[in-house]
Amino acid sequence: MTSPRSDILTQVIAACRPGHSLPRAAYLSPEVFAADMEILTRRWIFAGHISEVAAPGDWITAELGDESAIVVRGADGEVRALANVCRHRGSRICDAAGGHGSVLTCSYHAWTYHLDGRLRGAREMPEGFDPSAHGLKPLPITIIGGLIFVAFAPDPPSLDLAAPALEAMARLYDWPGARIALRRSYEVAANWKLVLENYHECYHCGPAHPEFSRLHALAAPGARVVSDKADALTGLADVEAWGPASDGAEVVRVMRSRLLPGFETGSEDGARLAPPMGEGGTRATGLCVFAELGFLSAFLAYPDHGVIYRFAPLSPLLTRMEMIWLVAGAAREGDDYDPARLSWLWDVTSLADKRIIERNQAGVKSRAYAPGPFSLMETGARQYVERYVGELAALARTGSNQHVQPLQAPEEGKGAPDRRGGGVGEAQVREAREKAP
Ligand code: FES
Ligand SMILES: [Fe+2]
Repeated sequence: MTSPRSDILTQVIAACRPGHSLPRAAYLSPEVFAADMEILTRRWIFAGHISEVAAPGDWITAELGDESAIVVRGADGEVRALANVCRHRGSRICDAAGGHGSVLTCSYHAWTYHLDGRLRGAREMPEGFDPSAHGLKPLPITIIGGLIFVAFAPDPPSLDLAAPALEAMARLYDWPGARIALRRSYEVAANWKLVLENYHECYHCGPAHPEFSRLHALAAPGARVVSDKADALTGLADVEAWGPASDGAEVVRVMRSRLLPGFETGSEDGARLAPPMGEGGTRATGLCVFAELGFLSAFLAYPDHGVIYRFAPLSPLLTRMEMIWLVAGAAREGDDYDPARLSWLWDVTSLADKRIIERNQAGVKSRAYAPGPFSLMETGARQYVERYVGELAALARTGSNQHVQPLQAPEEGKGAPDRRGGGVGEAQVREAREKAP
């Protein structure tokens, strides 16, 4: 017997048309959103920059749906991810975005934990209570070129391809040694998939982003996006593992893109905004490198600054776009960069995106909406949708959240769980479509 939820998923999958945007229910339904969260919580998400946990005792939190992780540097210097759920009766432990302390304390009944997650103190517990069995649950964590990623299930996809590609880009621009210049977040009244589809196509750049289009080659139809000199200047290759996966690998994309003549970086007047970042900062002027890892994290390296996007689905019709601007570690605000000039391009671009995505959602809410065809300039969005449908098909096939295995607390002396996971692909999409009524 199938559950009502898997019926809805099966209907949505059956209504998907290749090369088209998704059926209406995919963007509106709470049941589909719940399925989306199962898909997303088992993939890698960007949690923060290494500079945020520079010293033992520094911690940050990273959230996705109902899940929350504490990323903390222990007394031993190791950076770990721990489920932000007290082992007493389940309270959230850390509420803030970040902090510092020698222990982690739950404010409900004051259980305290060592920075590595081991239970340190629990008052008035009965005889036989075993503190070693009540440590905070570890979560998969990996650090790639100064970028911290976590997952909320024990079997996130393999990073064998993604990690070296992202690492090469991050190291070229010395992102491990960077500092955070500013952050901003934008709440978009739209389903997360409309936000991400928009992020993955530049068909809208000409009409919606005059500022971006003045300097990025990507905005023009059929433009020569990659400069002839990109190989020599960056030493990086384009990497793409983006279509429906059958190998259990995490989504990754690294793409070099040239800026138009007269633009050294992503600034209003084309001039540099901050000191160069790493070797790429001096070698690769007039270029930028886009990278993505997983479903919700994107990175953009200009010669003198970096931009990180973290997309946070909050509810079926609400998504937060969280942005971080990076500069060289030695750069000083005021002397070396002006935050307003630094953020100009992606602030104006993100505000325009918020407007157009919210109008997109308004139209999709109407019963008159029907999935529409992607253009030749929307390949990225089409691939994103195909990948998503593949994941949804795999989830519908399992029929429940068996797809996500429960997290296990570590046995004494054992490390974090295995990080490799099983993938889904075209075959599963086909299978679900065939099974659909
Ligand atoms: S729930 Fe944390 S100490 Fe009680
Ligand atoms: Fe845009």
